[in-house]
Amino acid sequence: MKTPKRIQPLVEEGLIDEVMRQLMSGKEATVYVVRSGDDIRCAKVYKEANERSFHQAVAYQEGRRVKNSRQARAMEKGTRYGRKMAEQVWQNAEVDALYRLAAAGVRVPRPYICHEGVLLMELVTGADGNAAPRLNDVELDRERALAYHAALLREVVLMLCAGVIHGDLSEYNILVDAHGPVIIDLPQAVDAAGSSVAASMLERDVTNLANFFGAFAPELQGSRYGAEIWMLYEAGLLTPDTPLTGVVAAPEGPADVGAVIHEIALARFEEEERERHQLAAQGWA
Ligand SMILES: Nc1ncnc2c1ncn2[C@@H]1O[C@H](COP(=O)(O)OP(=O)(O)OP(=O)(O)O)[C@@H](O)[C@H]1O
Ligand SMILES: [Mg+2]
Repeated sequence: MKTPKRIQPLVEEGLIDEVMRQLMSGKEATVYVVRSGDDIRCAKVYKEANERSFHQAVAYQEGRRVKNSRQARAMEKGTRYGRKMAEQVWQNAEVDALYRLAAAGVRVPRPYICHEGVLLMELVTGADGNAAPRLNDVELDRERALAYHAALLREVVLMLCAGVIHGDLSEYNILVDAHGPVIIDLPQAVDAAGSSVAASMLERDVTNLANFFGAFAPELQGSRYGAEIWMLYEAGLLTPDTPLTGVVAAPEGPADVGAVIHEIALARFEEEERERHQLAAQGWA
């Protein structure tokens, strides 16, 4: 196909030889299948900030901190320099997370480079050699649902041991290849140690998994893996091999109102996200 304008700089740099086809256009990015030499890869072209959804902007502000205070002030004020900084932080966040996670042994696409707002990465492929299906589009039975759920909990723990929380983990951001689930779409990934919303984000990610797989294996509904993982993490006891039960003791003492309000806000985001995906699936967005 004709090279999209945003990909032209990567062709000029010799990073991409040919754009083969568009894979998908989401709210945050358009994804292409490209050829680099003999390799077939995937190019994710980020949309400009003003085209992205409000949901992502909020999740991004909640989850991210910038070390340089001049940059932080500029980003808060929304100056042109600030917006440009915010763009770069956003785009680099995904490639940074991918490098960190790939090094930690998490099943993510191998990243190559992020250049001019385009992330070049490994194309995850399914049994037929084409782009792998999303978990949401795969047929599951109880046994496979339990196996994938266990595998993904391991991945969540591995990520947390590497200091990263996905922050938007769902059946839409997980692909399935011949070896099982592969996690994608990480621009909103948060630093587990540096974010005030880390615990809620982790809880939401893990609950999304339980709800999705719970439709095939009802015993997963109501499991408390998120709380268990976070407790172990905070106590410094979490390792990639720590056994998990999905059960935690009921909390003692008065309710934490702030935490409850936060949970409600996150639940609303999640609902909006689901609606957005439904509309997209129906061709409305
Ligand atoms: N490395 C990859 N290999 C194969 N397919 C991919 C890869 N990365 C992304 N895709 C496909 O492109 C779609 C969009 O990618 P991604 O989720 O990263 O972008 P997005 O703009 O956040 O999309 P959405 O708004 O749907 O969440 C994925 O659902 C998947 O089908
Ligand atoms: Mg996505």
